[in-house]
Amino acid sequence: MMTERTLAIIKPDAVERKLIGNILSRIEESGLDIIALRTASLSKEEAEGFYNVHAHRPFFDSLTSYMSSGPVVLAVLEGDNVISKWRQLMGATDPKEAEEGTIRRDLAVDKEKNSVHGSDSPESVAFEIPYFFNGL
Ligand code: CMP
Repeated sequence: MMTERTLAIIKPDAVERKLIGNILSRIEESGLDIIALRTASLSKEEAEGFYNVHAHRPFFDSLTSYMSSGPVVLAVLEGDNVISKWRQLMGATDPKEAEEGTIRRDLAVDKEKNSVHGSDSPESVAFEIPYFFNGL
């Protein structure tokens, strides 16, 4: 058993379509604990800093413009193997490739407007949680 934390983001496409409750319900129903939660409107610079690991990718400018286009919800989740559990709940990056019953398969628009984010490793968690939650 490995109690972990991970960062979850409900992205602008999902907030705009009033899917916050739907997504938070899926998190709660799956048994994960939400230990911190807030809304935010990211500046382009904040989005660029957060996604710095993708700075060399062709989609970086589009991704960071999109992530700063409207409000998001930031959450810290906690539980056994929560990094992997949250990624399973989200589904594959591209909703067309995501398994049935996952958030992205059910709700996402496309590979960029994919409704949710989750840290992909303990190293990402160590960068991403304090990026948005001071002291966590
Ligand atoms: P996320 O899990 O937040 O990590 C990086 C994000 O970049 C990803 O979700 C998508 O929103 C976006 N992304 C990844 N691949 C592509 C792509 N090929 N084209 C556009 N956006 C992408």
